[in-house]
Amino acid sequence: MTDLKTNYLGIPLKNPVVVGACKLTSNIDSLKKIENAGAAAVVLKSLFEEQIGYESYQMEEELTMYNERYAEMITIHPDIKHGGASEHIAFVKEAKNALNIPVIGSINAVSKEIWIEYSKLVEEAGVDALELNFYHVPVDFDKTSEMIEQEQIDLVSEICKNSVVPVSVKLSMSYSNPLNIIKRMKKAGVSGVVLYNRVFKPDINLKDEKNIYPIDFSSYSDIRNALRTIGLAYDKIDIDLIGSNGVFSGLDVAKSILVGADAVQVVSSLYKNGIDQIGEILNSLKKWMTEKGYNSLEDFRGKLSKSKNKDIFAFERAQYVDILMNIEKIFVKTEDIL
Ligand SMILES: Cc1cc2nc3c(=O)[nH]c(=O)nc-3n(C[C@H](O)[C@H](O)[C@H](O)COP(=O)(O)O)c2cc1C
Repeated sequence: MTDLKTNYLGIPLKNPVVVGACKLTSNIDSLKKIENAGAAAVVLKSLFEEQIGYESYQMEEELTMYNERYAEMITIHPDIKHGGASEHIAFVKEAKNALNIPVIGSINAVSKEIWIEYSKLVEEAGVDALELNFYHVPVDFDKTSEMIEQEQIDLVSEICKNSVVPVSVKLSMSYSNPLNIIKRMKKAGVSGVVLYNRVFKPDINLKDEKNIYPIDFSSYSDIRNALRTIGLAYDKIDIDLIGSNGVFSGLDVAKSILVGADAVQVVSSLYKNGIDQIGEILNSLKKWMTEKGYNSLEDFRGKLSKSKNKDIFAFERAQYVDILMNIEKIFVKTEDIL
């Protein structure tokens, strides 16, 4: 019997497949379908600061940024209502009552005060854990990466200090050194990092010469970004590593566990294939494990991480150069991994 049990931020999960924050986790009907399809946990759609109070921000620079982000958010959540935090909190409580699987609350704010206030509100609504949805839109020439990162670390430290549930952070891919930020997050009290967030970028409609805000789903190979970071971090730092951004199949889950992930999050896969894809993911993971003779995730977790990998060049620059020099050979090999 194949055992898929794992732990997520100290919470025991029946399997490693968690549905990430999105529109599918924003209503009770689809949350129940997600639970019935076999997901081990869900991250509820984020409570966004802009959802509630963006009008009250007066500074011109901030407004410019807000216009961008607000429009983007409306595209992502077309039926967003300005019901205030209380409406979201009521939804969180309803979700918690309706589901038997762990429920993770997600927050995305701008000002430190609101981050802290919303984290407390969502936590008090009864969630099992918090996920801080981090992304920064760079609009200021004078703000250094170090300043931005330190603000994030100070914020996280404050939230963790005041929180009785485990706190995770979903990181964007834009850090120069994600390993350093993960290490500092851990020191600030974070229990797990989700690698990586998907950031929506505006495009241009050439006919109308206007900005448009398309929703781009992840692509098959996107998970390789997380595979690399997780593989480098596994065994080196005591923090949960959650693979995200491009997990489509059970084989992607297997790859994530092989480099050392504790669990994965899926979103795009469910938009493309439907909620029942969760069952497909679990079945193909079990099938792969059976073929390999693995009984549990522990049998192969981290086997291909940097610290355990027999291919000592797998995470090195030399391997990249080798790929470029032997491109014909590599094209043939790519077929084997599908
Ligand atoms: C339609 C849609 C809505 C999303 N809404 C949220 C959200 O409310 N909060 C959040 O943290 N991430 C949100 N995300 C990002 C996803 O949770 C996830 O991090 C990202 O899509 C990468 O995972 P994937 O490759 O499985 O799609 C959204 C993604 C999509 C496609």
